Amino acid sequence: MHILILGSGGREHTFAHKIAESSQCSKLFVAPGNAGTAAIATNYDLDPTDFDAVKEMVLEHEIDMLIVGPEAPLVKGIFDFFKDDAALQHVNVIGPSKRGALLEGSKERAKEFMGLYNIPTAAFNSFTEKSLEAGKMFLEKMKAPYVLKADGLAAGKGVVILNNLEAAKEELTQMLTHQKFGAASEKVVIEEFLDGIELSVFVLTDGENYITLPTAKDYKRIGEGDTGLNTGGMGAVSPVPFADDAFMQKVEERVIKPTIKGLKEEEIAYKGFIFIGLIKIDDDPYVIEYNVRMGDPETEVVLPRIKNDLIELFSKVGQQKVNEIELELDPRAAATVMLVAGGYPENYEKGKLMKGMENVQDALVFHAGTRLENKEVLTSGGRVMAVTALDADFRKALKKAYTEVEKISFEGMNFRKDIGFDL
Ligand code: AMP
Ligand code: GLY
Repeated sequence: MHILILGSGGREHTFAHKIAESSQCSKLFVAPGNAGTAAIATNYDLDPTDFDAVKEMVLEHEIDMLIVGPEAPLVKGIFDFFKDDAALQHVNVIGPSKRGALLEGSKERAKEFMGLYNIPTAAFNSFTEKSLEAGKMFLEKMKAPYVLKADGLAAGKGVVILNNLEAAKEELTQMLTHQKFGAASEKVVIEEFLDGIELSVFVLTDGENYITLPTAKDYKRIGEGDTGLNTGGMGAVSPVPFADDAFMQKVEERVIKPTIKGLKEEEIAYKGFIFIGLIKIDDDPYVIEYNVRMGDPETEVVLPRIKNDLIELFSKVGQQKVNEIELELDPRAAATVMLVAGGYPENYEKGKLMKGMENVQDALVFHAGTRLENKEVLTSGGRVMAVTALDADFRKALKKAYTEVEKISFEGMNFRKDIGFDL
């Protein structure tokens, strides 16, 4: 089978690593990929949101399966683009249709969907520039902290949480009338603050059937103790120790089943991942968000725990036979630590020479922001590399990961030393 993965992060390197192991994979491409994917697949330089370029590549290399890593091409409708084109229809695209992707592409749509199918979530209201004054009044009626969310995609930066009412009103004004997040904040969702502990649940579905994949918890803030600016994710563990069977039963009944039911009722084509961001309050799950793809760095801890052949799983998705999948999990826990560039998530430098990866023995190294130049690996992004270890429990796995991290170096290298601190 000829397979193309779209994307260039640690998530995509992890997909490539699993797929390269499959006997069913005869040719593997990653577009645009990174230095890590270059070592196990063929990188292909294209922009995943340039569908004509993707089409040309897919036809030229006779691609049978397309795995879409990031949300942007999904929200732009790459699934529909393939299904509407006679020359591309046969390709098994792993990802939701454009209507499905709206669960991530519009926070308002996600909230309305949850409302329709009685999925527990924070109370909310949404506002536009025209209803700015109503928005400010709504804030006055709420209690601090105030949660403001740009409706559209904002590269993970569109959620602002403020303690002060005046600051919240000012932020709402900036979002709605000064397009703080561009078109993404033409509409803003204001919601009730949920106070609990976060975790993520991953589902693989064909739109009809589903399987629940291992849980994970990521650490989004740059600073230890969950302080400082938000990042794409600084590390993760899987499984989440507090997501016990009784809790997962509730997640299944109250969140996963009604989500699939909603997709079916609305006849939404969905052949891919649903990443459900949850907050656990007391012993109950509440949804904070849907993503329509896998998480990064959650993929780096979830996939290494799945023993099944990934191509077989994705083939079942394409055939709408996910009910036939028997998930085989590695009972060990996984932990990943993200190495980032000094200064990230603010200004940082790229092009730093990376050393020592060849000395890592007891962990998996997944490249994120890296590129090859004259056979050397250079940094090319803020999140540079994820180091994943497996062991009997997450503490042992973390210890192993941190030992291996010490073998890698580049100028300005930074990482959080307290992944899992709250567990
Ligand atoms: P999101 O981009 O929707 O993942 O939101 C970013 C982060 O904001 C989440 O990971 C939570 O930590 C936080 N967050 C979002 N919504 C809420 C809420 N209603 N209550 C508390 N925290 C929230
Ligand atoms: N780690 C969070 C995300 O992928 O959205």
